[in-house]
Amino acid sequence: MPDTTKPADATTEDALDDKALKMFGFKVWTYRMGEQVSLMIHLGDRLDLYKTMAGQGPLGSDDVASLTGLHERFVREWLMGQAAAGLITRHDDGSFQLSPEQAAVLADEENSLSFAAGAFRGGTDPAVLDLMAEAFRTGKGLSYEQQGPTAAAGLARMTGPWSRLALTSIILPALDGVTAKLSAGAKVVDVGCGGGVTLATLAAAYPATTCVGYDPSSAAIDLARRTVAEQGLTNVEFVQAGGEDIPASGDIDLVLTFDCLHDMPFPNRAATAIRQAIADDGTWLIKDIRSTGDFEKDSRNPLLAMFYGFSVASCLQSAMSEPGGLGLGTLGLHPKRAEELTTEAGFTSFATHDLSDAANLYYEVRV
Ligand SMILES: C[S@@+](CC[C@H](N)C(=O)[O-])C[C@H]1O[C@@H](n2cnc3c(N)ncnc32)[C@H](O)[C@@H]1O
Repeated sequence: MPDTTKPADATTEDALDDKALKMFGFKVWTYRMGEQVSLMIHLGDRLDLYKTMAGQGPLGSDDVASLTGLHERFVREWLMGQAAAGLITRHDDGSFQLSPEQAAVLADEENSLSFAAGAFRGGTDPAVLDLMAEAFRTGKGLSYEQQGPTAAAGLARMTGPWSRLALTSIILPALDGVTAKLSAGAKVVDVGCGGGVTLATLAAAYPATTCVGYDPSSAAIDLARRTVAEQGLTNVEFVQAGGEDIPASGDIDLVLTFDCLHDMPFPNRAATAIRQAIADDGTWLIKDIRSTGDFEKDSRNPLLAMFYGFSVASCLQSAMSEPGGLGLGTLGLHPKRAEELTTEAGFTSFATHDLSDAANLYYEVRV
């Protein structure tokens, strides 16, 4: 609402609180800095700068340039910027080094649950950005397919560390009786499987189990098929289809929906299909973004604005990509709504697991 108590000329800087103006201007510029630093993290990841520096002692810019085969002048500027951002350590003698913690977050994709550099994609395709803006005018969002060919790969790298490193050690053991069934040989379906990292991990860990992944995005399914082919897995296949179209076989022991129900235009239809697919003693494991349904409570999350950004740019787009879509968005599947959704679909048991995943909660759902 405009403040009608102020005179119309109160928009000049003279009429403003100088300190508040400076503080607010600084806040806005920190987000612009974040955009630039994000781009630098993407370059560091893409050019293997972090991976090259990890585990090394102090290095000069010439050392980093020769180890990576890159041009020293660009490497030096990048290093100085990284030090300015507090992302790598600069010693008094002008050398640079990644601390073990910095290496865990920026370099160690294979072993670190904290690896984050893969989430930095280097910006948004201008054509996708135009369509994103257009969605504000039409109310019709972009499906993951329309979000560009790199969306699936980018997401797979963002969610990959938890999918690969925590699935068999933390997540599945938290469920009642599931790992025993998987070891003996079970049927698993991953709905909204994306690039297939989760299902490939499960299939590799439980060779007697057969797995099918479903996703409506052809880019995601192509990537998933490449992932399992590279790993030589024969107990997993992928089908390009939405969650609402999975077969009503009634014999699936474990259904996964990881970070995808809130992206679906009609998660209720997927829930109904899952009820018809799952065995009466089966388990449905939902992983979804930590939220409470209450903005004030969610505001305790210092990264909340990033999640709303993910929503407007991606999740809400997908959830509004069909006419009448429910449009839950990134923060829309909080525990209460998740329980309602599963109850309406015919499930009677719902348990929340907090597995110390900073971004997600896990819901164990049974008939
Ligand atoms: C954020 S990604 C998560 C992918 C993967 N599960 C993971 O954890 O990395 C959301 C996925 O939901 C998929 N999706 C969107 N609408 C869907 C629907 N109706 N049925 C199944 N999956 C859907 C998208 O194509 C996308 O791959």
